[in-house]
Amino acid sequence: MFNICTIIQSITKPNMQIIKATLINPVDKESIEFIEHAGIAISEDQILDYGDFTDISKQYPNIEVLDYSDLVVTPGFIDLHTHIPQYPAIGKGKGELLPWLNNYIFPLEQKFSDNNYAFKLSEAFFMKAISFGTTTLTAFSSLHNSGTKAAIDAGLKSGVNLYIGNTLMDLGEGSYKHSIDQNIEDSLDLISYIQNSKNHSVKYILTPRYAGSCSVDLLKEVSKLAKEYDLHIQTHLSENLSELEFIASLHPNYKSYTDVYLGTGILGSKTLLAHCIYLSDTELSILKQTGSNIIHCASSNRYLMSGRMNFAKYDEMNLKIGIGTDVAAGYSLSMANEMREALETSGDLYYTKKSDQLISPQRIFFSSTLEAAKILNNNRIGQLAKGKQVDLVFHKVYDLNDTDSILNQIIYGNSNVQKVIINGIERFSL
Ligand code: GUN
Ligand code: FE
Repeated sequence: MFNICTIIQSITKPNMQIIKATLINPVDKESIEFIEHAGIAISEDQILDYGDFTDISKQYPNIEVLDYSDLVVTPGFIDLHTHIPQYPAIGKGKGELLPWLNNYIFPLEQKFSDNNYAFKLSEAFFMKAISFGTTTLTAFSSLHNSGTKAAIDAGLKSGVNLYIGNTLMDLGEGSYKHSIDQNIEDSLDLISYIQNSKNHSVKYILTPRYAGSCSVDLLKEVSKLAKEYDLHIQTHLSENLSELEFIASLHPNYKSYTDVYLGTGILGSKTLLAHCIYLSDTELSILKQTGSNIIHCASSNRYLMSGRMNFAKYDEMNLKIGIGTDVAAGYSLSMANEMREALETSGDLYYTKKSDQLISPQRIFFSSTLEAAKILNNNRIGQLAKGKQVDLVFHKVYDLNDTDSILNQIIYGNSNVQKVIINGIERFSL
């Protein structure tokens, strides 16, 4: 005997589903798409289509509906700058950049030589980031290859989309550095480790720490590797005034901090530069000409009292700007918190008349999603659209009728994340 339930089950395609929710989607710097009763048709890890729920359910009849009508769905957040081994140092040793690095961070990162420790710490790090709605992370590991492999393994287990690199360093007073050859050998080893994992969710990114830890020769080798393997590069630039003096004394043959990177071939459209607070007009035009990307780390800049990056000014120049939590100088892995810090920094600059423009929540949401995907040259993430990955975050908010209000609640709500799906698999649920 057939009953109605068995008939419905037999014609339901189990690998296809429609997600029903209120939808917020980045479009460009100014605008956000809002669909109050939206449907997203998915097949395993891929978005088939999305739109008004009624239209989508006509287009894809007899498909299981996952009803999240009381939640808002957004694409997953993309954190473009953070440090996994520094996680235990959140809130520790408040002070300026250089003593903070020497006294707290370099000794702490040394512990990443212990694989078991590195795996467990990375696992906790990824789980926390995912619980805040981050589905893609661009992260520094430590100097150690084995610890970085453990972090890669933890990344694969967590399901997060991960761009990771061992921190390359050949300069410095203590033992926390390697020879140039060792740095390059380690990079090549990690490139093949990731290739052999045959999993596309983890990618290698070249990670020279900054011009204070890298010789010109090491930076030139990094630039060669980037070209040979078509890789992204991440580093730090122009974060702190004492740091600027230190870099000038270390690299006297270059006109500026930015010039060290220009002269060694580090800059380009696949380069991510964290902080960028104290850039001269000449340095800014170098970044513009080379298509290099700026990563705004507002909470870190406040915590280490580094200064305030003028987002609105860089935006006027049409420089690409992503957002990074920069743990542990940044005190939280929450991208919502980081967006709020970016907005508040913009408010500070405006109030003190250092900027004549405020940046908007829409602008910062764009930086945390679609603009970040463009910076990573990854057209499968950053937006809800046909053919993209199913990287979804569900937020609990209290007024589902108005875009501005929803966005403000997501950013200022101190994390309302209820559920996170990455590559079609649920990775977090309250
Ligand atoms: N500059 C060089 N290394 C670091 C680091 O680990 N954190 C920050 N905020 N700046 C850096
Ligand atoms: Fe950093």
